[in-house]
Amino acid sequence: MGMPSSPRVGIVGATGAVGRELLDILASRGFPLRSLRLLASARSAGSKLPFGGDAIAVEETTARRLEGLDLVFFSAGAGVSRQFAPVAVRAGAIVIDNSSAFRMADGVPLVVPEVNGDRLEGADRPGIIANPNCSTIIALVAVTPLHRCAGVERMVVSTYQAVSGAGAAYMAELQQQARDFAAGRPYTTAVSGRQLLFNVFSHNSAVGATGANEEETKLLSETRRIWDDGAVQVSATCVRVPVLRAHAESITLTFRTPLDEETARHVLEEAPGVRVVDDRARNRFPEPIDASGRDEVLVGRIRVDHGQPPGRGLMLFACGDQLRKGAALNAVQIAEQLLASRVIA
Ligand SMILES: NC(=O)c1ccc[n+]([C@@H]2O[C@H](COP(=O)([O-])OP(=O)(O)OC[C@H]3O[C@@H](n4cnc5c(N)ncnc54)[C@H](OP(=O)(O)O)[C@@H]3O)[C@@H](O)[C@H]2O)c1
Repeated sequence: MGMPSSPRVGIVGATGAVGRELLDILASRGFPLRSLRLLASARSAGSKLPFGGDAIAVEETTARRLEGLDLVFFSAGAGVSRQFAPVAVRAGAIVIDNSSAFRMADGVPLVVPEVNGDRLEGADRPGIIANPNCSTIIALVAVTPLHRCAGVERMVVSTYQAVSGAGAAYMAELQQQARDFAAGRPYTTAVSGRQLLFNVFSHNSAVGATGANEEETKLLSETRRIWDDGAVQVSATCVRVPVLRAHAESITLTFRTPLDEETARHVLEEAPGVRVVDDRARNRFPEPIDASGRDEVLVGRIRVDHGQPPGRGLMLFACGDQLRKGAALNAVQIAEQLLASRVIA
């Protein structure tokens, strides 16, 4: 049993930042859906969202409305996924989940198609497939081609994450604060509780007993899972910057076997989902503005880390649109791979 070549698709969280991006990507890539059901909370029920020239009404998410679907994208937070993803699976759908709810669960593939798309091949029909965290996806699209060459032993990541990573309401609040600044008014902070504009702050996820926040912890645990390498070390510092969309990441790598800069650049130029932007003469490197709305992860500042033994360390800087490759696009690529391999039929 797989998915029909033209599945009945649902989106839970269709009104959110990721949900709207899913709509855009499904339409622009001509995803061969037979029907589309848009679900969100009761707050949005009755509103309409544009899709391919039509306007589709949004409905409240209920068990009943998850019936009769072949494929459901979830992007409404971990709590909603925990409550409703198993319901959708029991009703016969395959779920591709953007939340953190099932990423570390046994039997749930955690997939970036360019990195470990083989996890989708030859397996039993999956119930739930998890999309990794956005920072993990962007880092691993950039780093995995090098990992395949020389084995990454340690990865040190510092993120500069866009506010839209915290949802549509955060993005709207940054825009509002820009208007507040221009009008000389006090900043609106109802959503974030802080000044976003002209500021940089530690990632808004919970900080655990070790002092790491959840985003930093995910970078380690998800990288180990996706690479199936329990030994790789990942040290992360995750912060948000006043950028609307597209995350940036400074990445320092230590390799198990030597890898020189020219080989690394060549490997990255050939890598799927990567675009090298590394113009030292013009001082042009990856920027969130350039990554926004793009499918590829931009990679540049490729250079030797002279703080490590010769041949062992490289540094780079990556930018990726976390609403696209970090979430919606990755989910749609998973669905396309399922269709191509006839898992969904
Ligand atoms: N933003 C990113 O860059 C990003 C990247 C990777 C993964 N993710 C993950 O994707 C998920 C969605 O993130 P987002 O940024 O799109 O958030 P968002 O903009 O805040 O949107 C949240 C969505 O969830 C819906 N929702 C909230 N409570 C609900 C409920 N009880 N029942 C049904 N629907 C409900 C909202 O509907 P209403 O409009 O009706 O409130 C809205 O459609 C999260 O799990 C997030 O961690 C986000």
